[in-house]
Parts: sequence; structure tokens; C-alpha cells
Amino acid sequence: MGSVTVKNLIKQYDGVMALNNVNLEIQEGEFFALLGPSGCGKTTTMRCIAGFEKPTNGEIFIGKQKVNDIPANKRNCGMVFQSYALFPHLDVFQNVAYSLNIKELEKRGPGTKIKTYARMINKKLAKSPPEIEKKVMEILEYVELAPYRNRLTSELSGGQQQRVALARALAMEPAVLLMDEPLSNLDKKLRNSMRATIRKIQLDLGITTIFVTHDQEEAMSMADRVAVMKDGDVIQLGTPTELYSNPKSAFIADFVGSSNIFKGSVIGQDGERSIVQLDGFQIRSTSIPKNKEVEVVIRPENIEIALGEEHPGDDILEGKVLMSTYLGSIVRYDVEIGPYIVMVDTTYQSGKSVYPPGANVKLTVDPEKVFLL
Ligand SMILES: Nc1ncnc2c1ncn2[C@@H]1O[C@H](COP(=O)(O)OP(=O)(O)O)[C@@H](O)[C@H]1O
Ligand SMILES: [Mg+2]
Repeated sequence: MGSVTVKNLIKQYDGVMALNNVNLEIQEGEFFALLGPSGCGKTTTMRCIAGFEKPTNGEIFIGKQKVNDIPANKRNCGMVFQSYALFPHLDVFQNVAYSLNIKELEKRGPGTKIKTYARMINKKLAKSPPEIEKKVMEILEYVELAPYRNRLTSELSGGQQQRVALARALAMEPAVLLMDEPLSNLDKKLRNSMRATIRKIQLDLGITTIFVTHDQEEAMSMADRVAVMKDGDVIQLGTPTELYSNPKSAFIADFVGSSNIFKGSVIGQDGERSIVQLDGFQIRSTSIPKNKEVEVVIRPENIEIALGEEHPGDDILEGKVLMSTYLGSIVRYDVEIGPYIVMVDTTYQSGKSVYPPGANVKLTVDPEKVFLL
């Protein structure tokens, strides 16, 4: 059925190692995100799964079937691209009906009819059989495009075009839906509403979906699980919560949400806690360091900030506010502590004053929220 397994996938273009040794096991019905910076190999992975690219090495399974030698159009994958890749001279209905009609003609007989269909559709004469007409209209209703059925796709907004692309992919009832940065060309507001639309449709249909994005917020808010890629490798795989609360490297900590990352040296123990020396001060952490030289990772929201005398207790760092920025419901402070600039996020409470630049502040961090990587 619709699970996808990728084993030891290697893809080399002349001289470029695009995929190093990628392994993925994607469950049937799962919404799975491939996340990573530009050039890390997301599209290549996707194209190998879809059959547009031949792996240099490794195996790909869709369900139990090994698909390495199966052509793209027989793999039962639906694709949605960043660029939509719609037929600009065809209307919405014909775009969605196109592949269904081709499939129907293939079923009925020799390929000459396909050429006739292509010719007719170019002259806008082609008519779909009633069952295809019905199916396409159902899908268009579903993605709220039925009123636009006769519009050329070139006359639609970006969001509408992307919904046509989605409808066209879903029309074939694929076992797997592959989406490569489908929302990147949309503005922020539309992107947010399309995220919700795509997720709802995916849950409704229970279709296995692989979603490629470089946008961590997108991956984290939509996916059941996320594989973070870097330089052709999957460097961490897990649920959004796992990645956020237990990053295995400073790269992940920084890429998935924002983090303060400082180099330090472990200089001793205080009970369960490691004492880490930074430039000018020490910090304690309950995480177990692998080496003496560590990267100290602290999420901005895990630091408390207070003025002057407010803070009793241990683990206090003194600093000065450089900048305070409203980010909607939170306020971010950039606080100078010696040679460092520390990001601190606090929930904005109306009525409570925001510390201005220049204010002397004290920061506290719970040692349980200091990661040593
Ligand atoms: N057709 C190609 N020929 C040569 N190099 C390629 C080709 N396609 C991709 N690459 C290289 O492979 C690497 C991964 O690319 P890609 O999978 O497109 O990354 P992403 O989608 O994560 O941005 C990059 O270094 C890219 O330049
Ligand atoms: Mg890409």
C-alpha cells in the first residue's frame, strides 16, 4: 500500500554527492516532512522516490514493492511542485481531467487515441467521459474550485493555482502524495491557510504524504514526523516535539526553532550538574556532555529575565539589554553578557513594562534546560 521505504540511497551527479546514504521508513497515512537548507538533497530524494531520477545506489519501496525499475508513471505517486507546473492553455477542469483521460484512453486501446485526445484538448474540443466529469467536479468542489472550472489556470491567483495542482495530483488517487516546496511562492497569510487546507485533506484521505520544505515552521506545524537533512544526509528524524526538545546537534537546535549557541569547556561537576566555563562566567547543565569541549545550547524561551534585584537564587547572569523587539505575543530581548549576545523570549503581558535598551538585567536558566552538545 502507501508506505515508503528508502534504503541506503545514494545519488551522485558528476562530481557532486547529492545524497550520501539516506534511509527513511515512512508509514502508510503518515504526513512526513523532509526539512533542510537549500541544496541538502530534499528534491533529489523526492525525485528518486517519484522515479524522475535514477539512484546511483540503494533501494526504494512503495508498499512492499521495490520500485527502482518501475517507471515514474507506474509508481502511483502524485506530485505537486513549487512552480505548480500546470498547463497554462488549459482550463481548470481540463488540467485536473488530463491524466484521468489519458489513463482511460490507455485502458481502452492503442495509443493513437491519446494523440487524438491531445490534439482535441489543444483545440479545446475534448470532452471527458461522464464518470471522469463527475469525479473531476467532485474534486474541484472539494478544493473549492468548482466555480472556476472554465478559467484558464493562468488567470488564477497563486493559491488557486496551487489548489489546481493539488486537485490534479489527487484525481489519480495516488498511493503517495509528494509535494516539493508547494507553498514557497505564496505570501505568508495564504501559506498559513494552505497549510491548514493541505493538512485537512491529507487527514481526510489518509494519504501518505511526503512534504519537502526549507521552512522549519512549516515542517513542524504540519508533519507527523520530520527528517532534517544536511549535505545529503538525514541528520535527525523524529516528531516535531522530539526534534525541538531533544536536538542531537547544534545545527538542529539552531535550525529547528532558534537557539543561543556558545562554545564552552566542562570544568567540573556539581552533583548531577556539569559546570561549563564560558568567556567570563560559568553555567550549569544537567545534560551529560560527550566531550570536554561542548556547545552550550539554550532556547530563548528557557531564559528568565528580570530587572536589578528581582532575582534571588543560583545561576544568575548579569547583562544589559541591547534591543527589545515585539514579535506579536512575545518580546525578544538581545542581552549583552560580556562578549556574548543572548536572545531571551518572554511572553508579552499587557500592562507589564518592556525593559528598554540600556537596562541592567539579570538572567536565570534552569540547568535542566541547558543542552550540552
Ligand atoms: N541535475 C543535477 N546535476 C548536478 N547536480 C545536481 C543536480 N540536481 C541537484 N544537484 C545538486 O545536488 C545537491 C542537492 O540538490 P537538491 O536535491 O535540489 O537540494 P534541495 O532540494 O534540498 O535544495 C545540490 O548540491 C545540487 O546542486
Ligand atoms: Mg529543492
